[in-house]
Amino acid sequence: MSGKITLSVIKADVGGYVGHSCIHPDLLKTAEERLSNASEKEVLIDYHVSRCGDDLELIMTHKHGMDNEKVHKLAWDTFVACTEIAKELKLYGAGQDLLQETFTGTVKGMGPGVAEMEFEERKSEPVIIFMADKTSPGAWNLPLYKIFADPFNTSGLVIDPAMHEGFKFEIVDVYERKKILLAAPEEIYDLLMFIGAMRRFIIRNVYRKKDGELAATASTQKLSLIAGRYVGKDDPVLLVRCQSGLPAVGEVLEPFAFSHMVEGWMRGSHHGPLMPVPFYEANPSRFDGPPRVIAAGFQLCGGKLIGPRDLFDDPAFDLARKQANEISNYLRSHGPFEPHRLGLDDMEYTTMPHLMEKLSSRFVPE
Ligand code: F6R
Ligand code: MG
Ligand code: MG
Repeated sequence: MSGKITLSVIKADVGGYVGHSCIHPDLLKTAEERLSNASEKEVLIDYHVSRCGDDLELIMTHKHGMDNEKVHKLAWDTFVACTEIAKELKLYGAGQDLLQETFTGTVKGMGPGVAEMEFEERKSEPVIIFMADKTSPGAWNLPLYKIFADPFNTSGLVIDPAMHEGFKFEIVDVYERKKILLAAPEEIYDLLMFIGAMRRFIIRNVYRKKDGELAATASTQKLSLIAGRYVGKDDPVLLVRCQSGLPAVGEVLEPFAFSHMVEGWMRGSHHGPLMPVPFYEANPSRFDGPPRVIAAGFQLCGGKLIGPRDLFDDPAFDLARKQANEISNYLRSHGPFEPHRLGLDDMEYTTMPHLMEKLSSRFVPE
């Protein structure tokens, strides 16, 4: 065991209530009981159970490092226990994200989303955990760029000597399973070429250039690629450390005042605006959306999670919510037409192969 703290957020959709809009309180209660036991047995230092839409989010701190079997198994067993309740209540899509029968040492590749960071806790350690529903991991690319590379968003990049050298972005090519490190500000045009294509190139980690300090980590699992077929959008999480030579809480939240366009929404097959909401409004029900994001702020104290503060519960984000509703109306008017509907290759439900086969004999040379 190292002296460092590990912050692990492991999440899964193990059953929706009603449909895909929310989670039944009994699932939250079950998860709470499981993690409370683990906390008593000192597997965890602390935990917090949260949810965004139909996603159950296990926020855990411990000293076992990343990819720890004990911690991953605890999360897996918790999801299995919640699945049992979901089945008893016939909740919707019970066990949806648990793609395998038995646990094999890590939840990675088994369906749940994972974001973990290990670090030396600073004198004061404010962290923000962003959790989204009805969207995919590429949704973090734009805000992460603004937070760590755009001085019009983050004045600290200009003003604070600790940040002035910039940040490095680790980008994963989720199709080729390769990664690359690119530095801002000197490589921003290269960087943007990749991360603007957020379906394929996803920012996983951001490091401060001056000393390599880890500043942010995102979950990069793509369920559809894991399963080889549609099994739901990935509903990603993002962890960001703030202040004292890293972007301030307000700089980290600022990009979300613009409701940017993401993939997801109904049937994981549409473009829609990402709406920043307080915890109690994270219930996507209009056309199963629009996609939502919540921000839970914590102060860490020897690994204890002091919080959360519901950071989008602020009228300063009202206009972003209004903007998201206006964009939603505009996009919804397109019905099944692109670009509201995703392009053929990107839709996660599609009747096209079936239709092509059925109508193949009626296709004649033009
Ligand atoms: C999107 C999502 C929902 C479902 C939709 C249809 O991520 O989970 O929009 O895709 O409600 O669900 P099924 O096919 O299960 O009826
Ligand atoms: Mg669901
Ligand atoms: Mg979900």
